[in-house]
Amino acid sequence: MDRYAVMGNPIKHSKSPQIHQLFAKATGQTLSYETILVEKNDFPAAVTRFFQAGGKGLNITLPFKEEAWHLAECRTERAELAGAVNTLSFKDGSIHGDNTDGAGLVTDILNNCHGQLRDKRILVVGAGGAVRGVLLPLLKEQPSALHLVNRTASKAALLAEHFQSYGTLRGGGFESLDNHAYDWIINGSSASLTGDVPPLPGTVINHQTWCYDLMYGAETTPFNAWAQQHGAANVFDGLGMLVEQAAEAFYLWRGLRPQTADVIAQLRAAFKK
Ligand code: ATR
Repeated sequence: MDRYAVMGNPIKHSKSPQIHQLFAKATGQTLSYETILVEKNDFPAAVTRFFQAGGKGLNITLPFKEEAWHLAECRTERAELAGAVNTLSFKDGSIHGDNTDGAGLVTDILNNCHGQLRDKRILVVGAGGAVRGVLLPLLKEQPSALHLVNRTASKAALLAEHFQSYGTLRGGGFESLDNHAYDWIINGSSASLTGDVPPLPGTVINHQTWCYDLMYGAETTPFNAWAQQHGAANVFDGLGMLVEQAAEAFYLWRGLRPQTADVIAQLRAAFKK
């Protein structure tokens, strides 16, 4: 049976095994998918062991996405630019690295949220690994402008410079925001983890603004609650992105694109139990 796994530390709460088993069932594929807890200094050896034992593909989560990037012998353009790899495949004797996070976000926005990105003004908050992972797919949708803001302004400016040739974007600190509202605000900061909301002025939102928090949980995230209070037209959390990035990995491995709506609904329902 073809063997797949997700590696990380911690890994116990990963939803990936459940998601991939649901995809396998829905597409009539026979495969196994497990979680592998990897010690912090053992990542390269763990990957080698997995592939030497015949494993076909790995998802990589925190804190190993950058190490996976280094380990991959070849990388897709989106992984190359993201500086992080979340999907490894063993093909023709070598390790291939990809990053499906940004594609997951874009697919969720377009197909599940029924939003549009082309010619839209997008504000992206944060300049860490999560944001770096989604910038290329976002820019490929050809927004009219993408503004990156971050608590540490220099990190946003550097990221904007890094992606300069892929679209119209600029980066800076929160003080670089003027009084304009945006069509989309995508929160890629980890502020929600500590129950915080990035220090955005309410003027970035008007009644046509759609907001997306890359975080998700049983409750409305602090950022989405803030966006609702300021009159955002729509708010979404990152659960759809989680499922869509998995669907993209499943497609890379199996050549089949699974339906995702039921899987997202099942995960959402499980929060209520
Ligand atoms: P991840 O891999 O989740 O992106 P990260 O690389 O540590 O994690 O990046 C976290 C991001 O959230 C950073 O952009 C961070 O801002 P700094 O670069 O200034 O550290 C941002 N962040 C974290 N807590 C925040 C808060 N309370 N308010 C605003 N931004 C915050």
